[in-house]
Amino acid sequence: KYQRQYFMPPVKCMKWAEKEYVDKAPVWCSVDLRDGNQALVIPMSLEQKIEFFKLLVKIGFKEIEVGFPAASETEYEFLRTLIEQNLIPQDVTIQVLTQAREHIIRKTFEAVKGAPKAIVHVYNSTSVAQREQVFKKSKEEILKIAVDGAALLKKLADETEGNFQFEYSPESFTGTEPEYALEVCNAVLDVWQPTADNKCIINLPVTVQHSMPHVYASQVEYMCENLKYRENVIVSLHPHNDRGCGVADSEMGLLAGADRIEGTLFGNGERTGNVDIVTLGMNMYSQGVDPKLDFSDMPHICEIYEECTGMKVGERSPYSGALVFAAFSGSHQDAIAKGMHWRDDKDPDHWNVPYLPIDPTDVGRNYDADVIRINSQSGKGGVGYILETKFGLNLPPKMREAMGYATKAVSDHKHKELHPDEIFNLFKQTFENI
Ligand code: KIV
Ligand code: ZN
Repeated sequence: KYQRQYFMPPVKCMKWAEKEYVDKAPVWCSVDLRDGNQALVIPMSLEQKIEFFKLLVKIGFKEIEVGFPAASETEYEFLRTLIEQNLIPQDVTIQVLTQAREHIIRKTFEAVKGAPKAIVHVYNSTSVAQREQVFKKSKEEILKIAVDGAALLKKLADETEGNFQFEYSPESFTGTEPEYALEVCNAVLDVWQPTADNKCIINLPVTVQHSMPHVYASQVEYMCENLKYRENVIVSLHPHNDRGCGVADSEMGLLAGADRIEGTLFGNGERTGNVDIVTLGMNMYSQGVDPKLDFSDMPHICEIYEECTGMKVGERSPYSGALVFAAFSGSHQDAIAKGMHWRDDKDPDHWNVPYLPIDPTDVGRNYDADVIRINSQSGKGGVGYILETKFGLNLPPKMREAMGYATKAVSDHKHKELHPDEIFNLFKQTFENI
């Protein structure tokens, strides 16, 4: 069964198509502790949330959505712990999510009382499907929910101790007619009246991904060009990954004019997850753009992530998986070994080694354990590289070739990967009579 569930804007601008890559880090907002957490088989405990929050701070996130405090006791308690134990660094803003419903907004403000700075993020669903099937309300009624919610946020922020910024999400934005989404967002902005000193955030969620990335980019561009108060509005993206295009949506959405990304580490989140900020940040890094997030100790980040979420970082997860720098095949190993020598001699400051998108040591990985790995697919180049770099043996070409055949045969026969010590033993056996 199928149905198109997205909308192309009335005017296709497609200025994004002229740009080549994202040349500036967006504002990053981690939603690990909210969207990521709500999708876990066993949501994080208070202690795990605190540990994960500290990890996010260490990586360099300046905006962190810490939960939906009106929705669960743990989320409420976690937020109070962060505030009362002064765990929020001065340069970090926490964000809390609330539906646009009076009692939930009121409870959210109670929970966030005393926070040094907080973004209050209010949402309601605007798509055709949600309006017709779930809420059974007209466009006018749905717009009123958004405007009333926005007005209550403004009122409670004035009455509550603290420093608040506002965010609005037309949930299921991509399934909403663009002109109507624009009308709702502009009505919310009319209530908030953003200024240069108090900018508001309009977040455009791909709540469920139904379209190709250029469609989303066109929707984002349409909003960026037509939102009121644009210079005082931060346009934020929140892609989920149902079609596997979360990263593409984000990158093209940034080219289309957006300023901010909400996502998670390794793409945890509802269903196929939220956009993976590790991949987005490292994609920038690989283009020479500073992502303003520190992924230099990826093994540690993976360890804490796995411990807190109970999820696994996939072996082929970009920049982080156990196998993403590994080369087993002979021709790849040969090219990598030659590329490394070339780089050492000719261009130590740049990275242009074949088959490796970045220098693995930049994310805390190492050549010996992670790159040249030997099995029955491997050849003389890889074996020679291991013997040279691990054991100081620079073999002449004939010996390399003989070692290549010997290793292939043993690995094939035993049906297993061979580790450097086993290769060295094989070297001794192969040439013991010479
Ligand atoms: O995916 C979504 O639409 C959300 C909203 C609540 C922002 O998570
Ligand atoms: Zn979401």
